[in-house]
Amino acid sequence: MSGIGLHKKLEENTGLLIFGILFVSSIGGLAQVMPSLFQESLRTATENTTVYSPLEQMGRDIYMREGCSLCHSQQIRPLLAEVERYGPYSRAGEFVYDRPFLWGSKRTGPDLHRVGGKYSDEWHRLHLINPRDVVPKSIMPAYPWLAEREANANGDIGRRLAALQKLGHPYDAEDIATADAALEGKTELDAVVAYLQKLGTAYGPGDKP
Ligand code: HEC
Repeated sequence: MSGIGLHKKLEENTGLLIFGILFVSSIGGLAQVMPSLFQESLRTATENTTVYSPLEQMGRDIYMREGCSLCHSQQIRPLLAEVERYGPYSRAGEFVYDRPFLWGSKRTGPDLHRVGGKYSDEWHRLHLINPRDVVPKSIMPAYPWLAEREANANGDIGRRLAALQKLGHPYDAEDIATADAALEGKTELDAVVAYLQKLGTAYGPGDKP
């Protein structure tokens, strides 16, 4: 069949045309996705990346519940302006224990990937209870209830860690057995602050520049 004949046949047959379109556009998609499926470095933790402690993991779950990612991204792009403002750009291997990822796509507030260690715990506590107390012009909402609620009110931190362990996070039986005790007497505010202080601290001298 001549090229023109095949083209005519494709154009006249909707089913065939749809298949043709899907086939051609999937080649582009595969060319983008396939290399990353086989690139080991994207799945291997960077030298200093560790799992979240029970308190940090609970803080992360509260961060998700409160929708902090609606205003904050957690990915520093390898662009001069971002690196100067936020610090070393994010490496894939720093996120292997982030499930689900909280990269975000909206920056009403600043990127938080390297916020760990930037402020004191006390600064974070004041800021979360009422952002205007430390940043007068802030438009960030206040989260005063975090200070009043128990971090492990449902007593399920052990089960949360066990679920992550099933997915391959290297928690051992002792981590899970002692998780409840680790959260004893802690508030949700303690948990979120612990999580924020851990963010981005996995970048270290052993990592590529
Ligand atoms: C409506 C948008 C919005 C939401 C939702 C939001 N923030 Fe913010 N956040 C901001 C803005 C704007 C700033 C910058 C002003 C300031 O520091 O308060 C900010 C600043 C911050 C900072 C200081 C960052 C820095 O480098 O100075 C932290 C930490 C932070 N937010 C944490 C959180 C957490 C945790 C949550 C969820 C409990 C949250 N934010 C929810 C808008 C938001």
